Amino acid sequence: MVVLEAQSISKSYVAGSRSISVLDHVSLSVAEGEFLVVQGESGSGKSTLLSILSGLDTVDEGRVLIEGRDITNLGEDELAPVRNSSFGFVFQSYHLVPSLTALENVMFPAELRGDRQAREKAEGLLMRVGLSDRAGSFPHQLSGGEKQRCAICRALINGPRIIFADEPTGNLDSVNGKAVLDLLLELRREKSTTLVMVTHSRSIAAKAGRVVTLRDGRVETGNFDV
Ligand SMILES: Nc1ncnc2c1ncn2[C@@H]1O[C@H](COP(=O)(O)OP(=O)(O)O)[C@@H](O)[C@H]1O
Ligand SMILES: [Mg+2]
Repeated sequence: MVVLEAQSISKSYVAGSRSISVLDHVSLSVAEGEFLVVQGESGSGKSTLLSILSGLDTVDEGRVLIEGRDITNLGEDELAPVRNSSFGFVFQSYHLVPSLTALENVMFPAELRGDRQAREKAEGLLMRVGLSDRAGSFPHQLSGGEKQRCAICRALINGPRIIFADEPTGNLDSVNGKAVLDLLLELRREKSTTLVMVTHSRSIAAKAGRVVTLRDGRVETGNFDV
């Protein structure tokens, strides 16, 4: 089953008097449970593509379908709940809320939807990733690897159908990067969650079910070279 579909999407940004085409009629289907890696040179539009697929950004042309539902023209009021309940996000720079503890960061998306088990779920996830003893710590008190494990717990708390990860290991050393990747893959396997990941890592790409490369606004498939 196709869970995510981009149909001929185009996106340009205006820079001064010029318009820069980032995505040029890109089409892409992602199957349920798939681990898809998106690669491409810096500036090739990987983050833009992920933002559009996850409803964080809009297209100029084309359509985006989530589980067959066209989200292209949904307003923020309709999109926000879809994002919060169906998607998990993991970013290179973690995006944790500095004023909240690790536990509170993880609980946050569940609290947004009024989940009374938010705390128990968050505690369970933190235990799962070996961060129970850091639950009361604030992000600035955590190492990069700990922050990313915490961000992964936050991404998972609502039981997302799709996880979007934009260079999740980009700020980590190889040991922590591997731990974070293994964790994502393990959690994905358990729940058959779809994983769409932007990464420059060849070793990660080698573990993906499919690799697509963005180049000149287009998608090339089956090419491991950046
Ligand atoms: N909000 C924005 N405003 C203007 N230009 C942008 C914006 N976001 C991205 N771009 C431009 O779009 C291109 C693709 O960016 P991005 O999707 O971040 O690439 P990647 O993630 O592959 O490095 C770059 O040239 C970038 O400068
Ligand atoms: Mg990027």
